[in-house]
Amino acid sequence: MDFFKWVSSILLLLSMLSISSSNPTGPPQIGFDFLTSAKKPEIVEKMVDWRRRLHENPELGFEEFETSKLIRKELDEMGIPYKHPIAVTGIVGFIGSGGPPFVAIRADMDALPMQEGVEWEHKSKIPGKMHACGHDAHVAMLLGAAKLLQEQRENLQGTVVLLFQPAEEGGGGAQKMIEAGVLENVKAIFGLHVSTDVAAGMVASRPGPVMAGSGFFEAVISGKGGHAAIPQHTIDPILAASNVIVSLQHLVSREADPLDSQVVTVAKFQGGGAFNVIPDSVTIGGTFRAFSKESFLQLKQRIEEVIIGQAAVQRCSATVNFNAKERPFFPVTMNNEDLHRHFRNVAGDLLGPHNIREIPPLMGAEDFAFYTDVIPGCYFFLGMKNESHGPLESAHSPYFTINEDVLPYGAALHASLAMRYLLESHPSPQSIEGKAHDEL
Ligand code: NI
Repeated sequence: MDFFKWVSSILLLLSMLSISSSNPTGPPQIGFDFLTSAKKPEIVEKMVDWRRRLHENPELGFEEFETSKLIRKELDEMGIPYKHPIAVTGIVGFIGSGGPPFVAIRADMDALPMQEGVEWEHKSKIPGKMHACGHDAHVAMLLGAAKLLQEQRENLQGTVVLLFQPAEEGGGGAQKMIEAGVLENVKAIFGLHVSTDVAAGMVASRPGPVMAGSGFFEAVISGKGGHAAIPQHTIDPILAASNVIVSLQHLVSREADPLDSQVVTVAKFQGGGAFNVIPDSVTIGGTFRAFSKESFLQLKQRIEEVIIGQAAVQRCSATVNFNAKERPFFPVTMNNEDLHRHFRNVAGDLLGPHNIREIPPLMGAEDFAFYTDVIPGCYFFLGMKNESHGPLESAHSPYFTINEDVLPYGAALHASLAMRYLLESHPSPQSIEGKAHDEL
């Protein structure tokens, strides 16, 4: 270690000691420094610029080639090593010692197949594609965090793993990243999503299940078509499908614990094309949601049994397809209790404890769940609502907008959660000393 590094290490140690002395029982409050840094005009301008460039050029799942190129160029400029391509367009960056412990922070990169309705200077230039879920802001904030962390790389007590993943919107991009080995040796993962329901400067989350497990089903109910005026010569699949749908509604209302929230929705009904013809078959389809693996698998099994059984009551046959290859089941997004406590501590120090909201779980699904299915994780919402600017349109609306004022908060939270996780999971000098003594 050269002299200047030695001096800067001592200075950092002293500054951490002096900050933590205001909170003698708590951990060092390094989060505050990151928010101050993230609010510096040069960092804010960069994040806004990245976000707007991505917004102008939205790309769908597994097609994020230009997005990926922009990220790699910025990582190159910051001097951050990375692996690419992972899961087609994904990138995994590394900041810190290069050794354990490893902690991951994640951003999704994909846009939606919809036309932007907002008229503004940086409107999507690609017809029929739009960043209507804020993933452009997510990438900008993770790049912002990368910059903040890279400046502190000498002080990281391990390695921060940056995950830029493709295809969050139903493509199961996270699953493909995991299959490529991105979670190997990673002890914990943090992820965020912008929220139009939570005030700017606030965050929201909860321990345990935070987003539902989700699956899709499709069934073909087959009878015997014929003249609508001679029903006795037909086997009517429309009537059978109608009874199937009514019976499916009993799964939640009669078979599930009323305190264990679940959803079964039939959202698709296709059959027949004439007023006087009973069709041969009807196709129905829908989604089901639950907050535990057991409830999810129970629903899946009963959906199949009810469709086949109820169709048989009407003399029809049925085949049920869960399309798991095309539309993978999303596990429950489960917040680990210890990591959620860590999130509360870090976010509390950064934003003030009164700016952390505990929310009920949401029935929406999020592919961050694939990570929390494998390693402990914590997922939270970053507030964007600002009453003085009027209400924000919700995600997936063609009028969705980002409150760019919150970009520094997201970057600082990512950086603080990761850095402090490493600091706290690293054995303290006392415990190393203790261990050495034990071994002697
Ligand atoms: Ni999203």
